[in-house]
Amino acid sequence: MLEEIRSRRSIRKFTAAEVDDQTIDTIIEMGTWAPSGLNNQPWKFVVVKEKEMLNKLSQQTVYAHIIKNAPVCIAVFLDNKASYNREKDIQAIGACIQNMLLAIHHLGLGGVWLGEILKNRKQVEKLLEVPDGVELMAVISLGHPAEKTGKGNRKLLDQVIIGRKWRV
Ligand SMILES: Cc1cc2nc3c(=O)[nH]c(=O)nc-3n(C[C@H](O)[C@H](O)[C@H](O)COP(=O)(O)O)c2cc1C
Repeated sequence: MLEEIRSRRSIRKFTAAEVDDQTIDTIIEMGTWAPSGLNNQPWKFVVVKEKEMLNKLSQQTVYAHIIKNAPVCIAVFLDNKASYNREKDIQAIGACIQNMLLAIHHLGLGGVWLGEILKNRKQVEKLLEVPDGVELMAVISLGHPAEKTGKGNRKLLDQVIIGRKWRV
């Protein structure tokens, strides 16, 4: 598991191969096993495979090519009706999305978390016909990887651990 967390990279190019529906459901189910405050599970999802809809969705972001050329995208929403604390609910959605990205990676697929599209949140919500109060949090593009990725790049632990209180 540690190696899978380490080796997951954002994948932005996909082959034309389909992702079967059962696999998509497994990825979403893994998202739903994320922790949430009071276990309120505030997430909702819309799966987009239809080419014309992918094209329309792609028009809402500068990363259009990543959506247009993906066999499937999963839009992730916060259901404000299920919300009890906005900050904690958004944190739970983040955990949900990361679970999905790790599941995608584990299954030999590739995906990327798209946030830039949030600037057009309202247009996307309208396009995907979600109920009132269901608020776009991210779009995940996924498919079979058509690019090799490197090792990635992260800050060193000493740059991010700002306290080691037991070392006084
Ligand atoms: C909140 C959030 C928003 C992101 N939005 C985008 C995006 O709009 N377009 C994109 O290509 N990548 C996006 N990414 C992916 C990041 O660029 C990527 O995770 C980061 O560069 C680290 O690379 P890695 O995922 O390969 O380790 C986003 C990631 C997060 C967590």
